[in-house]
Amino acid sequence: MTTFHELFGHAPTGEWAAPGRVNLIGEHTDYNLGFVLPIALPQTVRARARRRDDGRLRLYSVQGDGRVAELAVADLAPGTVAGWAGYPAAVVWALRQAGHPVGGADLLLDSDVPTGAGLSSSAALECAVASAYNDLYGLGLAAQDLAVVAQQAENRFVGVPCGVMDQMASMCGRAGTALHLDARDLSIRHVPFDLASAGLRLLVIDTRTRHDLADGAYAALRAGCERAAALLDLPALRDVPPSGLDPALGRLPAELRPLVRHVVTENERVRRAVALLDAGDPAGLGPVLTAGHASLRDDYRVSCPETDLAVEAALSAGALGARMTGGGFGGSVIALVAVGAADETAAAVAAAFRRAGYPEPGLVHAIASAGARRVS
Ligand code: GLA
Repeated sequence: MTTFHELFGHAPTGEWAAPGRVNLIGEHTDYNLGFVLPIALPQTVRARARRRDDGRLRLYSVQGDGRVAELAVADLAPGTVAGWAGYPAAVVWALRQAGHPVGGADLLLDSDVPTGAGLSSSAALECAVASAYNDLYGLGLAAQDLAVVAQQAENRFVGVPCGVMDQMASMCGRAGTALHLDARDLSIRHVPFDLASAGLRLLVIDTRTRHDLADGAYAALRAGCERAAALLDLPALRDVPPSGLDPALGRLPAELRPLVRHVVTENERVRRAVALLDAGDPAGLGPVLTAGHASLRDDYRVSCPETDLAVEAALSAGALGARMTGGGFGGSVIALVAVGAADETAAAVAAAFRRAGYPEPGLVHAIASAGARRVS
């Protein structure tokens, strides 16, 4: 592998790592200022980095095209940097926009977070770079602040109107726990998530599908939720209590009702999931996950034939619960299974995919792991 020294002519100051994430429950609730419950994955983006004082940002990715991208920090502007290099550039731009006078750096990036699988490889990349800059420039920002910078980078520079879940999970995850996040005030609590001692496993099945409508549809759904909140005279759909759901639906046009129903019931599923984990009953999550999938499929309409099939096949093979995870229109499915049934479940999903003529699904065994950190 090309070394930092070969690329840039000197040694790095250090190495930072930030993980991908998988969301247990709480989908499309973050931009409605509700609740989410993701875990950080063992798979990370690693950034070896050294500060430069000449305003140049030099970027190299082991997964890239073998070339060093070189940019002038002062010239960074939304829409000017295409491809993967746009994410690190976006973070540097967003730090400067937030008033932090950061300059250039040499960055060597390497990743084992699967891309295009809905496991937030881009948030991991942003958070690795944000963590490196925080230390290289002595910014002293807290993990939550860095997550917001990374989200701003993605919203305003890359142009993806995502919520804050992925960046918060990558920055604030903790081994052996799930992250209960209130997306309104960014308060967090680490909830015990110990599957091994309950004899369980969480399979992440990558359908290897990503439908083209994903980006446009995400923005349209977010706009629909904001319109519904405005029609209800509320700051966000988070403010519809479960007891107020039916009256709220009665005040909305037909096309917005399923969106609101999903968001309100999904926030309740997060509450339920947290209560189960606090009570030491992770197996109880199963039906909550499966109900979440039905809501995403029937009300929010972000599932697709591949994710629906993976869920059905996992459940038929004996999974305690299963659902699509992430934004939707492809990506990954999670399945909660007894340890002894994990291989059988994975094989059943693969067989169903073969019969349907779908690509061979990928498989990751999800272990709740640490959030962003300096590793050397
Ligand atoms: C994507 C976004 C997140 C969140 C999920 C859906 O992963 O990046 O902010 O909205 O979709 O829950």
